[in-house]
Amino acid sequence: MERNFSLSMITLSLTHFLLLCLVVAAAAAASNNITTDQQALLALKDHITYDPTNLFAHNWTSNTSVCTWIGITCDVNSHRVTALDISQFNLQGTIPPQLGNLSSLTTLNLSHNKLSGDVPSSIYTMHSLKFLDFTDNQLSGSVSSFVFNMSSILEILLTNNRFSGELPKNICNIFLI
Ligand SMILES: *[C@@H]1O[C@H](CO)[C@@H](O)[C@H](O)[C@H]1NC(C)=O
Ligand SMILES: *[C@@H]1O[C@H](CO)[C@@H](O)[C@H](O)[C@H]1NC(C)=O
Ligand SMILES: *[C@@H]1O[C@H](CO)[C@@H](O)[C@H](O)[C@H]1NC(C)=O
Ligand SMILES: *[C@@H]1O[C@H](CO)[C@@H](O)[C@H](O)[C@H]1NC(C)=O
Ligand SMILES: *[C@@H]1O[C@H](CO)[C@@H](O)[C@H](O)[C@H]1NC(C)=O
Ligand SMILES: *[C@@H]1O[C@H](CO)[C@@H](O)[C@H](O)[C@H]1NC(C)=O
Repeated sequence: MERNFSLSMITLSLTHFLLLCLVVAAAAAASNNITTDQQALLALKDHITYDPTNLFAHNWTSNTSVCTWIGITCDVNSHRVTALDISQFNLQGTIPPQLGNLSSLTTLNLSHNKLSGDVPSSIYTMHSLKFLDFTDNQLSGSVSSFVFNMSSILEILLTNNRFSGELPKNICNIFLI
């Protein structure tokens, strides 16, 4: 009798726990949507100081959907930004911490620009990121500060930058010069 009682108590707490997880998951899902993605991308736009092709000025305008912006790919079902590829635009500027809010991003390609400064550590909160390409920029700071925690990553390309520091040994596909 007593045993049954404690079992049902455990079942009850488990149910509560699962419900709580669902609520937390729902809250997290609600706080990250296409509006979050737009704010993150507009923050990036704000941090670009030189844009010779007027990519940001003419195309990344807040009165059009981010999914129609050059360099942006969205998932049709989730309606979230899944790829950001603004390589080869000769851009100057820095990477804002808000970029880490692109939580559905799988590809981040900023290669062949003149971006500088440290890579914000918030980059490693992008838990879907698989391909990261920073090749040929002027980025600096310690590589380990952002590379260590990227669990989903398959490929990181960092060649031709000003990075320093030790690389984590548990990641295989890192190319750094
Ligand atoms: C995104 O979430 C915020 C707050 O969580 C909400 O106010 C906003 O309406 C949502 N936007 C879309 C496009 O769902
Ligand atoms: C931005 O560029 C895309 C692709 O060329 C185009 O479809 C879209 O209409 C452009 N948006 C604006 C506001 O010019
Ligand atoms: C959107 O805003 C830009 C300026 O920020 C303007 O040039 C463009 O005509 C606007 N497009 C629409 C569809 O309202
Ligand atoms: C990034 O873009 C360049 C072209 O601009 C391309 O050569 C490279 O393969 C891309 N990187 C990834 C990881 O897709
Ligand atoms: C986006 O990221 C910044 C800094 O990483 C954070 O302070 C902010 O609350 C985030 N915004 C949203 C809408 O999630
Ligand atoms: C990132 O990784 C470092 C080293 O493994 C660890 O000390 C730190 O707590 C991690 N941070 C987050 C936010 O996961």
